[in-house]
Amino acid sequence: MRRHYHAVRREISSLNSIARRHWPAGAPLVRSSPMEPSIYEYPDVFRRAHLESPGEISAEVVFLQQLWKRYRKRPTRRVLDIACGDSPHGRLLAGNGNGFEIVGIDRSPTMIAAGRRKAGALANLRFYRRSIEKFTLPERPFDAAIFMSETFPVIVENAGLLSHLKSVGRALKRGGLYCIDIDRQDPMPRVSQRTIWRERTAYAAGLALDIREFHRPIAWHSPLHSIYELECTIRFPNGAVTTRDLIPVRYTLPATLELAALASGMFKMVGAYSDLSFSKPLDKCRYRWTGVLRRV
Ligand SMILES: C[S@@+](CC[C@H](N)C(=O)[O-])C[C@H]1O[C@@H](n2cnc3c(N)ncnc32)[C@H](O)[C@@H]1O
Repeated sequence: MRRHYHAVRREISSLNSIARRHWPAGAPLVRSSPMEPSIYEYPDVFRRAHLESPGEISAEVVFLQQLWKRYRKRPTRRVLDIACGDSPHGRLLAGNGNGFEIVGIDRSPTMIAAGRRKAGALANLRFYRRSIEKFTLPERPFDAAIFMSETFPVIVENAGLLSHLKSVGRALKRGGLYCIDIDRQDPMPRVSQRTIWRERTAYAAGLALDIREFHRPIAWHSPLHSIYELECTIRFPNGAVTTRDLIPVRYTLPATLELAALASGMFKMVGAYSDLSFSKPLDKCRYRWTGVLRRV
């Protein structure tokens, strides 16, 4: 989802014109199906499909370490990486020689396998296959948890949100921090049908990716900000594979995160920062914000 909403703001005018090219009325909605794998089955290409720019991960890791210093008196060493994918953040931390111990959880066996392969000889980066909505781990309590790449808003239901926060809370020490990276979410034009948003070609791992993104209709009473559909045709030398992901995105603002934290009984929100900056006010936030919750 990375840069999904950032791109919304940059391309709002082109969206307005593209949005008029509605999917033909009456055409059946395309569904995610076992016949159409997820982009997350291809760990080496999904970042490009999400418009991620180089250097972002290391900037995020630097900012996280600054947050931990700011909010914790004791050193932060044991870190839980939630929806870790192949844990690029975990690899940077585990490999920096400062005694970090990182545990990543993700539901995708492919991502976890890629994470283990890339971790190589790093014994201080471990993975578990878990759903983020509700989980337990055979691990000592952590000093901090992170949820990066603007994925937190995929937890859509209130019950899922609360059980997620309770699961994270139980995994953390009292006083531990939970840092959550969330896109700035501007109002989206409502669509009444599945609507193409944009098309582009990108390149990753020496392969061409034909990417088409769509918006889906949502009910007025839905807690969703949007339903994002990502279609990616990966042009392998021996044939193309088309992936499809439907990503529901819950409307998530600093005030709603604060409320969810309180409702969980496990956390208090202690900070919200714009664009990895300690000085930029939320009013000036352009791309994303980081919510900081403290385990009570
Ligand atoms: C955009 S990727 C981000 C991965 C990683 N944090 C990063 O920055 O590269 C999102 C990850 O969330 C995982 N994910 C999505 N929903 C999940 C769920 N309900 N339970 C566990 N993992 C989930 C996906 O498998 C995917 O690896």
